[in-house]
Amino acid sequence: MNIKDLYINFFVNKGHKQIPSAPVVPENDPTVLFNTAGMQPLIPYLMGQPHPYGKRLVDYQKCIRLTDLEEVGDTTHHTFFEMLGNWSLGDYFKKESITWSFEFLTSVLKIPIDKLAITVFEGDAFIPRDEESATIWKSLGISDDRIAYLDANHNFWIAGESGPCGGDTEIFYWRSNDPVPKVFDPSDGRWVEIWNNVFMQYNKDEQGNVTELSQKNVDTGMGLERTVAILEGVDDNYLTSVWQNIIHVIEKVSHLSYKDNSVSMRIIADHIRTAVFISADYSGIKPSNTDQGYILRRLIRRAIRHAKKLNIDINSDWEKQIANAIMDQYEDYYSEIKENRQIVLDVLNNEKIKFNRTLEKGLKEFEKAINNINNNEIDATTAFRLYDTYGFPIELTCELAKEKEIKVDTEGFKEKFKAHQELSRAGSTAKFKGGLSGNGEMETKYHTATHLLNAALKVVVGPDVHQKGSNITPERMRFDFSCDHKLSDEEKKQAEELVNKWIKDSLPVVVTEMKKEEAIASGAECMFIEKYPDIVTVYSIGDVSRELCGGPHVKNTNELGIFKIKKEEASSAGVRRIKAILE
Ligand code: ALA
Repeated sequence: MNIKDLYINFFVNKGHKQIPSAPVVPENDPTVLFNTAGMQPLIPYLMGQPHPYGKRLVDYQKCIRLTDLEEVGDTTHHTFFEMLGNWSLGDYFKKESITWSFEFLTSVLKIPIDKLAITVFEGDAFIPRDEESATIWKSLGISDDRIAYLDANHNFWIAGESGPCGGDTEIFYWRSNDPVPKVFDPSDGRWVEIWNNVFMQYNKDEQGNVTELSQKNVDTGMGLERTVAILEGVDDNYLTSVWQNIIHVIEKVSHLSYKDNSVSMRIIADHIRTAVFISADYSGIKPSNTDQGYILRRLIRRAIRHAKKLNIDINSDWEKQIANAIMDQYEDYYSEIKENRQIVLDVLNNEKIKFNRTLEKGLKEFEKAINNINNNEIDATTAFRLYDTYGFPIELTCELAKEKEIKVDTEGFKEKFKAHQELSRAGSTAKFKGGLSGNGEMETKYHTATHLLNAALKVVVGPDVHQKGSNITPERMRFDFSCDHKLSDEEKKQAEELVNKWIKDSLPVVVTEMKKEEAIASGAECMFIEKYPDIVTVYSIGDVSRELCGGPHVKNTNELGIFKIKKEEASSAGVRRIKAILE
């Protein structure tokens, strides 16, 4: 049995319910491009909303962390990983959490206790030193020497800047053939963190104020790739069973060995795997020049560039072979991989064809540019031309330049970029860093307005309108829906008027829990039925709207103000997009 199954079974036996992995693109959280931790889709429940599955949850969650993107190519970094996590939503706390982590590692995975070390929070002005966790660890047989007390930079966890948070205790493993030292030195890189147990009992608001949550939660996270590497005793994650088949296919299509070409092969393996998960996601992301689509494009194009470095014939079906090996490995765990296999292959192939048209010429242009440069720097005009004419993401130009020890005027590039109004990535740059909010007063109002607009469009345009995506900021809402035509002015006006009528009608917003089948039978609207658990939360607004949804929502539509459609445009084939505000 593999670790994912062992982990789920272990916690199910401890009274946890398995929940499905949420999509990699978070819904209704504009502050992050991708889910970066297992807890992210659970934020409303950590904040106190009852979870339909109860108080003990377990899952494996697809995560994408872009902060490590440039690092990929070494032995340990990945842009995509699976996080094993278990949660207590106001149920058990430190004792059970620590005891079960210890039991899973030592009894199920059979890790020798002598190879483990622990950090706990040393405390600060607000939160006391975590003697309680240290005492529990000692009672399990961890020696004093192997417990280190560290500050908030190490042992306090929060996703981004605000949201549920708390002190944590982290478990380290001695990943080296050197003898295990008696005393734990957390700054020694041979000790690697394998599991983090966060005791989430606080909330940090956007102003930085920390308050106690209504319940004490536990949030844990263990990176699968790293744990597998440890258990299989290798010091290169890409040599584990997670990657072996994928690397073999890359060796086959390149006729080269991993040993001599590891960096490019790791980049190709990692980036194609992440691209597979983004393009298979039910959110329907396609390569583009903004947000998630831009990341997808960057990953695919970087993989293609490295494939070229390995002299792979780009026109062959190399990327299909690699992607198929990846999908074979994951399809039993993720339904979207099974269902969207062809979509993934099309995304990769189309992007390849697009980039391949200009790649060769762009590389020549790059060579020409570096033969004529001043100050050892590629100027903004050249960087922008490579982007605009040859489709080189600026990061790719930077990477090529770095290999030749040349700088790039990225500041100048940004200015040109803005001037051309191609896109403003400023917003998305902030989002790369992670961070959560999304549950503020305005976001909550927009969330409810989204349900009303969905219902209004069904009346005005027709029952075939379905939500295809949504994005909310405190300033506006964006709603993507299936529709085969541009809305007429009349349709827009009617939809707007209908939403405003429902707001004036002061309709109550009511939340109920029911079986998924019952919810569907009652006509509740939902985006991706597969991804919901068997018991679901349904929000009803008067009798005009009924949707499966995690909330949060206002209590009554009269809180919303005046609804205005600002723009209606095409989003992708068969999908229209409305931007709207509340005044
Ligand atoms: N949310 C915690 C982490 O990502 C468990 O490390």
